[in-house]
Amino acid sequence: MNHKVRFVGYSRQYQQLKKEFNAVFKEIMSGGNFILRKHLEELENRIAKYVGTKYAIGVNTGTDALYLSAHALGFGPGDEVITVAHTFVATVGAIVQCGATPVLIDIGEDYNMNVEQIESAITSKTKGIIPVHLNGHSCNMDKIMELAKKYNLKVIEDAAQALGAEFKGKKCASFGDVGIFSFYPAKMLGAPGDGGMVCTNADNLARKIKAFRDNGRVDSVEVIECFGWCSRLDNLHAAILNMKFKYFEKWVERRRKIAKMYDDGLSGIDGLITHPHSNGDYFDVYQNYVVRTKRQDEMINHLRNSGIEVLVSWPVPLHQQKALGLSRFNLPMTEQVSAEVISLPIYPELTDGEVQIVIEAVRRFFQR
Ligand SMILES: Cc1ncc(COP(=O)(O)O)c(C=O)c1O
Repeated sequence: MNHKVRFVGYSRQYQQLKKEFNAVFKEIMSGGNFILRKHLEELENRIAKYVGTKYAIGVNTGTDALYLSAHALGFGPGDEVITVAHTFVATVGAIVQCGATPVLIDIGEDYNMNVEQIESAITSKTKGIIPVHLNGHSCNMDKIMELAKKYNLKVIEDAAQALGAEFKGKKCASFGDVGIFSFYPAKMLGAPGDGGMVCTNADNLARKIKAFRDNGRVDSVEVIECFGWCSRLDNLHAAILNMKFKYFEKWVERRRKIAKMYDDGLSGIDGLITHPHSNGDYFDVYQNYVVRTKRQDEMINHLRNSGIEVLVSWPVPLHQQKALGLSRFNLPMTEQVSAEVISLPIYPELTDGEVQIVIEAVRRFFQR
């Protein structure tokens, strides 16, 4: 059937900003400025300033940002790294690709790492923690950084979904040794393709990551400092992200407004849990708006039949993905949440009328 309410608004955004998109394309194509050029440097300076870190380094994807960070921090065979199973596979993949061992703990009511479980997961082999700021909501970074200090652990913040989110007035990706973002098209700040960024205050880590992303080269193309990879953020993508960043704070406000409309419109429904509420310590940016119901499949079918696109992130948690060999972990809350969550459409270009269509469709479902 023809979808009335799309899950993402790519073409609508292009229609709204067509002149600006086209002007950027023309400038980059006519100048032939594709690799490691000034637009990338501009974006790196912009993101570093916005997040509050000394460095921001543009790479190919959020996945590479995680892997290159883990590698730069020296995670390797024999090391254990604590993270969650309720995340995109790339978070755990970064640990495994370095040869280290992931230790998965459960999530709390806000779908982020249950910080009460961290300490008992720490062993003499633990080298780091990767908290994931899921759905644009920060983890409790006080607790995580306190434990990291106590046990001398490295912290990589997976802020792929959390550009702009804050904990106690400080931006996600500025707490740990390293923090990463994804510019995948549907993300808070989306490129027309893949993209990622690593943020850090540490001079040595910044230099390593710059070398890793460009086959070992940093200041000169002739001096190779180490073996590396080819994982540069394309200058064309960076130029488009620079243009889009002008609107970023306005877009965050729009997402927050839509979330409020959903909160109000969906409150008091028996059998439905709305998106988790945060206290004043948190500034949420709503990469996703996630509801929960025991009737997950039925509700998905109802919404799809009503012309509304929805998504489940993620229906099979990572420790239950047979090929990954992580079945040793027992994560009841992760399993329950996976069986109940549904992400509703939320993006700046979604109209108030469309939000109402979604609210009414959800209400109709629970009246049946
Ligand atoms: C929590 C999380 N971590 C990492 C990534 C990986 O980012 P990318 O798709 O840019 O590689 C994503 C993207 O889906 C994500 O949601």
